[in-house]
Amino acid sequence: MLDKIEQIVKNFNSEIENATQKDIFEEIRNKYFSRKGLIAELFEDLKQLSKDEKPKYGQLLNQTKNELNAIFEKYLENYSSKNLESSFNLDLTLPSKKKNLGTKHILNQTLLEIKDIFKGLGFSIYDGPELESDYYNFEALNFPKDHPARDMQDTFFVNKNFLLRTHTSPVQARLMQSTKPPIRAIIPGKVYRNEAISAKSYCLFHQVEGLFIDKDVTFAELTGTLIYFAKQYFGENVKYRFRPSFFPFTEPSSEVDIWWQPKGKTGRWLEILGCGMVDPNVLEFNGIDSEEYTGYAFGLGIERMTMLKYGIDDIRIFFDNDKRFLKQF
Ligand code: PHE
Repeated sequence: MLDKIEQIVKNFNSEIENATQKDIFEEIRNKYFSRKGLIAELFEDLKQLSKDEKPKYGQLLNQTKNELNAIFEKYLENYSSKNLESSFNLDLTLPSKKKNLGTKHILNQTLLEIKDIFKGLGFSIYDGPELESDYYNFEALNFPKDHPARDMQDTFFVNKNFLLRTHTSPVQARLMQSTKPPIRAIIPGKVYRNEAISAKSYCLFHQVEGLFIDKDVTFAELTGTLIYFAKQYFGENVKYRFRPSFFPFTEPSSEVDIWWQPKGKTGRWLEILGCGMVDPNVLEFNGIDSEEYTGYAFGLGIERMTMLKYGIDDIRIFFDNDKRFLKQF
């Protein structure tokens, strides 16, 4: 019995001296002092001793238990106060760990800039579905069935009547059908084209559609608005030109080019948008009296605008999600 007590005291002492963590103190407390701990076990052993040995060992055990308890509490207190101290030793002047925050995608930044400019001109922002019907994408915009104009845009058909919209113009028709003029709307969104992927074209890109319908809207207002817009976005000295073009839903129609001058290379014109006066047939088809109202519309490409402004020469890079590219903006 005596040997057993001595052994336990010895073990206890070496364990408590090496306790360096809160958990270890808990472990020791459990191992020695809990109801099924080593000391409780010793008290169990007492029962097997003879009558005259019992009081002697009982006393010794009680004394040992109290001493070990006191040692334990002393070490624990010592440990706790040291640790408190070390938390005051923190150097609060050290710089914190660097957090890597994401940034807005450059296409989103361009979109925000474009929205801001048109909001300043009194345009409101709308959206429409990307999964669109043939009816809104083509028919309501004066693309007759089987008309070759449909081939201008290679379409991803989902079935006979539904497709991924090839432009944001179907939302023009939706707005005309649901809203009484005046309508002054900007409609940003994704569009899809089934084209061969190259540096110049991707199967997915972003447009911002514009639509203004009111009494006596003129072509001069259209050009005035777009020139103002180009100067706001590219700067006062931007070189632009309006080039006659064709769209089934506008008449007359035009495209706007911006002069692209990479450093040390020969410059060229790059198209950024299509526009025109809303064709009276389109107004009528969508329930607006073309005797009373006129309107203009335009659709510009967000990727193109961004590529021109920042000198990016491959559209695919926007969709690669390469951080080395994205971090530059
Ligand atoms: N929807 C046309 C396109 O994607 C652009 C456009 C919009 C042209 C509005 C005229 C008016 O090419």
